[in-house]
Amino acid sequence: MAVVKADAYGHGMIPCARAAQEAGAAWIGTATPEEALAVRAAGIEGRVMCWLWTPGGPWREGIEADLDMSVSGMWALDEVVAAARVVGRAARIQLKADTGLGRNGCLPGDWPELVRSAVAAERDGLVVVTGLWSHFACADEPGHPSIAAQLERFREMVSFAEGAGVRPEVRHIANSPGTLTLPETHFDLVRPGIAMYGISPSPEIGTPEDFGLRPVMTLSASLALVKHAPGGLGVSYGHHYVTPGETTLGLVPLGYGDGIPRHASGTGPVLIGGKLRTVAGRVAMDQFVVDLGGDEPAAGDEAVLFGPGDRGEPTAEDWAQAAGTIAYEIVTRIGARVPRVYVDGGGAARE
Ligand SMILES: Cc1ncc(COP(=O)(O)O)c(C=O)c1O
Repeated sequence: MAVVKADAYGHGMIPCARAAQEAGAAWIGTATPEEALAVRAAGIEGRVMCWLWTPGGPWREGIEADLDMSVSGMWALDEVVAAARVVGRAARIQLKADTGLGRNGCLPGDWPELVRSAVAAERDGLVVVTGLWSHFACADEPGHPSIAAQLERFREMVSFAEGAGVRPEVRHIANSPGTLTLPETHFDLVRPGIAMYGISPSPEIGTPEDFGLRPVMTLSASLALVKHAPGGLGVSYGHHYVTPGETTLGLVPLGYGDGIPRHASGTGPVLIGGKLRTVAGRVAMDQFVVDLGGDEPAAGDEAVLFGPGDRGEPTAEDWAQAAGTIAYEIVTRIGARVPRVYVDGGGAARE
């Protein structure tokens, strides 16, 4: 299952869903039903699953669009069953077990009621239970005791459901770290998100190269201005950077409005003219400055914030470390104002 939620972690949901299907992904996964309906509206066929529902959610539209819809509790089962009656067609649902993430999903104590009610609704022709599934809390921490505990609980909850008459097409629990490092978690389906975009889930479990991954997203900008500056010049809001002497400054037209973390003020790395520079002073809403140390690239020259690293440019992981976050957040937050250009076999297409 190719996970394309949150605009495919910032990469663009529809082009990524298409690319994943062309590459052989049997399922597309989203968090919200709105995302899944948008995938369908773009003409994407095949199995599409979504898991983050709230009361009143578009169940009827989900049934009509042939989505596989996650159910984590009785309120959701009641709503999907009511929608199936209205549509006159069985809803495809997947029961989600909370095996120890402590987030969404049905806890073991509530599982028998949910399973038995789903089996009854299936008997009435109102739902088809297509899957049993769960999600890990700490799969990116090698050897974390919760991994084995969650797996054991998952096996118990699956076995209870199967004993009660559920015949799931798919049982699944593995996210990217599970997919990459824990074969015993693979069951019938794996749900990688971040790994699909070429990023390691955590430096602790390995680098992208360790897994044969290559980061997909490159973020670059054209310098908006290059100017000579005297020493002692306060740079950007708050004057947290003051030029140490005569120098040149470059203006990069990207800011926190585009998803550049303000926490990377004074720390974010940028490749300009073959040299690694650092954000000078505060990242503003639309722009930030780098001290070019006297170099004189032209306005319009490329500033590469991150990419696969082939040209010596920083990676999203480097930005994550500079901003005290994870690479997931760096790529996912890149905003709608930044045009995505898809490069495929040498040709580029703008979305
Ligand atoms: C339910 C579910 N499955 C799979 C994923 C993919 O996770 P990852 O990006 O770590 O592979 C996510 C993302 O958080 C998720 O919420």
